[in-house]
Amino acid sequence: MLKVSNIHTYYGDSHVLQGISLDVPKGTVVALLGRNGVGKTTLVRSIVGFTPPRRGQVLFNDVEITRMAPYQIGRMKIGLVPQGRRIFPSLTVNENLAIALRNSTENPWDLQKIFGLFPALKERGKNKGNELSGGEQQMLAIARALVSNPVLLLMDEPTEGLAPALVREVSRLILRLKDAGMTILLVEQNIALAAKVADEAHVMSKGTIVYSSSPRELWENQEVKTRFLGVPTNI
Ligand SMILES: Nc1ncnc2c1ncn2[C@@H]1O[C@H](COP(=O)(O)OP(=O)(O)OP(=O)(O)O)[C@@H](O)[C@H]1O
Ligand SMILES: [Mg+2]
Repeated sequence: MLKVSNIHTYYGDSHVLQGISLDVPKGTVVALLGRNGVGKTTLVRSIVGFTPPRRGQVLFNDVEITRMAPYQIGRMKIGLVPQGRRIFPSLTVNENLAIALRNSTENPWDLQKIFGLFPALKERGKNKGNELSGGEQQMLAIARALVSNPVLLLMDEPTEGLAPALVREVSRLILRLKDAGMTILLVEQNIALAAKVADEAHVMSKGTIVYSSSPRELWENQEVKTRFLGVPTNI
């Protein structure tokens, strides 16, 4: 579904992504792991057009989207759950979702379906974004991406800063979405979570992919874990 081929992305003169290639087959969860600052978010930004690659190619369902404008890519059923959530703090849960619904076209995940998946959000519908807990904000960020009815979901560190119980909730949610047919690129630092939900794992360091395997093989590879990921966290 998503095919990234040898992309090079820069911020000014700074050559951040140095030839990244990555496939996300339909119906799978592919995890991208790596320490702070290695370029994970830059890869996500390169896919959605915020920081277009200078070289290389991004294909989505065989359509080249490499240098399309973000608003065009936004219409292509690619949902983004950005790092740091980025919900509107002064709008209520319902208003945050209404804004996302406004942009959606045919067959969206309707609010009933969303609230079935996130019962806590229904209860908090009239609360403002900044009145939610970190976990509720994360759920809202995921719900907001879903109402645009994506077939591919890009999740950038969805468990960052969450307590273990909420990490488990996110992991259950990812598995439910996968069961519902969603294809997911999951950027994470939590290798235990990736091992639990992903079909394939890639490890990034300094703008390149340095290791790819099944999550289980990665889990068992102490050398790669110590060298490129640091101490794994448990869930
Ligand atoms: N807007 C920007 N302008 C210039 N440099 C940037 C910009 N955003 C990121 N960088 C740099 O690009 C490199 C990769 O950053 P990126 O945000 O992609 O890392 P990351 O792997 O997502 O890290 P984290 O795990 O902390 O989110 C870093 O050296 C960072 O300082
Ligand atoms: Mg990041």
